[in-house]
Amino acid sequence: MVCLGNICRSPLAEGILASKLPKDKFTVDSAGTGSWHIGQSPDERSVAVAKKNGLDISNQKGRQFSSADFDTFDYIFVMDNSNYDNVIALAETKEQKEKVTLIMNELHPTQNKEVPDPYFGMHNGFDIVYAMLDEVCEVIAHKLIIKHQ
Ligand code: 4NP
Repeated sequence: MVCLGNICRSPLAEGILASKLPKDKFTVDSAGTGSWHIGQSPDERSVAVAKKNGLDISNQKGRQFSSADFDTFDYIFVMDNSNYDNVIALAETKEQKEKVTLIMNELHPTQNKEVPDPYFGMHNGFDIVYAMLDEVCEVIAHKLIIKHQ
């Protein structure tokens, strides 16, 4: 799961998807394309909205996406078009590029809908982001379980 800062959207996406998959079969992680928040805990507003929905994401630590992630992970879900461009710019092969998906396209194929960055916005931005990610992660988890079990 990839966003810009790895403190608002992708930590939520990581926590939500991990909660819907069997832990012994799947590894879910998140990263940011930017480096500002390396080593930091998720934004307190993301921690709060996760907690409100029964998830604890407070132990996550920010890290920056790197080209090694193309080898480590089978699927790379990005939150918005700018994340998509930044991740694709690091891809060196067709196979690596094919691993990258704008996450909401899993729910609304080809619409290229973005998960909005709630960092500078109003407080309910985090509720909106949570609801979007919860809905799409349900679809992703279902697909992954069918494909890989
Ligand atoms: P995120 O939100 O990409 O969802 O983690 C942001 C967090 C921090 C910044 C931008 C977006 N920032 O500019 O520091």
